[in-house]
Amino acid sequence: MKGREDRVKLRRLQERDLDTVLEIERESFPHPWRKKMFEEELRNPLSLCFGAESDGRLVGFLFSWSIFEDLHINNIAVLPRYRRRGIGRRLLQEAMERARVLGARNVLLEVRRSNAAAARFYERLGFREVGVRKGYYSDTGEDARLLFRKIQPVSGF
Ligand SMILES: CC(C)(COP(=O)(O)OP(=O)(O)OC[C@H]1O[C@@H](n2cnc3c(N)ncnc32)[C@H](O)[C@@H]1OP(=O)(O)O)[C@@H](O)C(=O)NCCC(=O)NCCS
Repeated sequence: MKGREDRVKLRRLQERDLDTVLEIERESFPHPWRKKMFEEELRNPLSLCFGAESDGRLVGFLFSWSIFEDLHINNIAVLPRYRRRGIGRRLLQEAMERARVLGARNVLLEVRRSNAAAARFYERLGFREVGVRKGYYSDTGEDARLLFRKIQPVSGF
């Protein structure tokens, strides 16, 4: 259903969110991150992490690093039944806005070659392929497509 993203609240993630983050992760990826990886992200001073709350529960998240001119998206997922409501877009916009204030001008991320849905999401949001990292994913040996976009000054979509 369209328009329901208005009722979605973005907020900082905390350690106590991690069990829910793990549930979302496991519903979203065949090769999910382990809890320890999320704990490290929360402790990393370069990290920009957000959760999306709807109907009183966490339904999506984004983990990224803002490093000088670059924002690197490390992980983003939305619970399957909350997808296509603009939540992923809001999470990405929030990260880009925060990173822009910190001086970032570029956004970079890797996406599995087989993840066509995510690729369409990123393409819709202005990303383009700038390279391929051969065998990037150690679990399956799959290639990563490296996607890139510039950060626009305020409301770039
Ligand atoms: C990728 C993901 C985070 C997108 O979240 P989302 O909240 O559904 O995305 P949005 O609703 O903000 O989508 C914005 C636009 O992207 C495009 N898009 C998103 N998902 C799409 C899909 N499955 N197929 C085609 N286009 C898609 C659409 O143009 C959409 O706008 P529209 O619904 O008005 O047509 C979500 O699909 C997900 O959690 N996937 C599993 C985890 C994953 O693959 N993460 C990325 C790893 S690199």
